[in-house]
Amino acid sequence: MSGRTIAFVASEITPFAKTGGLADVAGALPAYLRRAGHDVRAFLPLYSSIDVDSYDIEPVPSVSDVAVDMGERTYRFSLFETRLPGTDTPVYLVHCPLLFDRPSLYTGDADEPVRFALFSRAVLESCQRLGWSPEILHCNDWQTGLLPLYVKSLYAWDQLFRRTRTVLTIHNVGYQGMFPAKVLESCSLRPVEAQLDQAGLKAGHIGFLKTGLEYADAITTVSPTYAREIRTPEHGAGLHPLLERRKDVLTGILNGVDVDVWDPRTDPLLPSRYSAKSLWRKEPNKVHLLREVGLPYEKGVPVVGIVTRLAYQKGIELLQEALPPVLKSRDFRLVVLGSGELKYERFFAELQHDFPRRVCFYRGYHNELAHWIEAGSDMFLMPSKYEPCGLNQMYSLLYGTVPVVRKTGGLADTVQLYDPTTGEGNGIVFDHFTGQGAQWALEAALDLYEDRKTWKKLMIHGMSQDFSWERSGPAYLKVYDRALSRNEAEV
Ligand code: ADP
Ligand code: GLC
Repeated sequence: MSGRTIAFVASEITPFAKTGGLADVAGALPAYLRRAGHDVRAFLPLYSSIDVDSYDIEPVPSVSDVAVDMGERTYRFSLFETRLPGTDTPVYLVHCPLLFDRPSLYTGDADEPVRFALFSRAVLESCQRLGWSPEILHCNDWQTGLLPLYVKSLYAWDQLFRRTRTVLTIHNVGYQGMFPAKVLESCSLRPVEAQLDQAGLKAGHIGFLKTGLEYADAITTVSPTYAREIRTPEHGAGLHPLLERRKDVLTGILNGVDVDVWDPRTDPLLPSRYSAKSLWRKEPNKVHLLREVGLPYEKGVPVVGIVTRLAYQKGIELLQEALPPVLKSRDFRLVVLGSGELKYERFFAELQHDFPRRVCFYRGYHNELAHWIEAGSDMFLMPSKYEPCGLNQMYSLLYGTVPVVRKTGGLADTVQLYDPTTGEGNGIVFDHFTGQGAQWALEAALDLYEDRKTWKKLMIHGMSQDFSWERSGPAYLKVYDRALSRNEAEV
């Protein structure tokens, strides 16, 4: 196959392993690159939670029982191969039960840094045994943050990686993989200690993401606005000086949507599929959703949906202020799907208790329900404190479910406030991170919903947008080309 050789390395890839949007991106961008004619292969840990019987998984004979010394311990891994379902994109699964046979993808265990250091080294060890020379090592988030340094140090002797350039995508600068400096030994970093952030080491820690951002040849993040925001003290989570210094190699590329999975015209999980031309077929999804979650359906009463990790980032405290008064004064149904921090789970559980026929909170992870909420709701609430990209507001737009969002990161890049004077816009946007702001936005959406003609226009605006990877993907190819042309100039 002609085109680029690209190793795409991620700690979650849908449908194998997912906690959030990274998995959606990692399940779709490689497939796009493959369609565009590139030899892209994805790498993922073989977590014990992966349902191996659902996929066609084969061992890779040349990468079997490989020993990797990590400080005083030697870990052994074997490689397995499968495909992204419905595509011919190879996915390599790194099998090391000692590290990946755990109850969840991410842990607070003492060897958490070792798990992902081993994974990163296993990618390079596998390339060596496969005799496969990636031009681009595309890393994602802190879990793969050590790869850019490894390939330039521990593995620099190998001609196989002579032309390799690294790209690191930041999906969330709030998660940095900070560990005590004593993990240097067990993460094979002792030989490169001098190349690490000395101030950090003196203060007793090492940051995997920071290390990656220092050594990657190119850095990307998942929306243009977030690319600007992370260079400021407010959003940089301490990494803004480094990101400002490296701004010439930092690009913001809006995530795409995997339209094979998220398209109301073809979504196999929907009881009633629909398009902008057959909007009346959206209504049965609302009936179905409310039946499933045990809330009464009433024609004309709007449904507000939320699907989210219940984390600080998502702005739930605004809803703690805004939802009770609006629930008291207006008639609507609220369906919330999510799990995470206890205080937020408690809040929604109490809300359901206080408004039993109006609110349903499903605590947990439920893929089908996520699709039903996208299709069955009239509006989708996302008041994030910060949002690198956000996928759910794009799914909502495509499903004719009007997003109500805060103006930050990727939300600012995808949702425009409806302007009655021009008739433009696709949602409701509020600026200030306050309960009042969120309350205003929700009430504005409920008001607008009453005006059926305008509401339909908003729905159609969203549904006619193109968020496919065909639109976003080419920007990654440009980043690869730029990283490689610098390489060629140097050689
Ligand atoms: P983040 O990655 O910050 O969590 P995104 O909006 O980028 O936010 O992506 C979240 C993804 O995870 C979406 O595909 C969303 O549908 C899914 N998701 C989040 N929480 C749940 C849940 N409780 N059940 C099912 N899917 C969920
Ligand atoms: C992160 C961000 C989210 C983004 C996703 C995929 O989890 O929180 O905004 O959409 O990664 O890039």
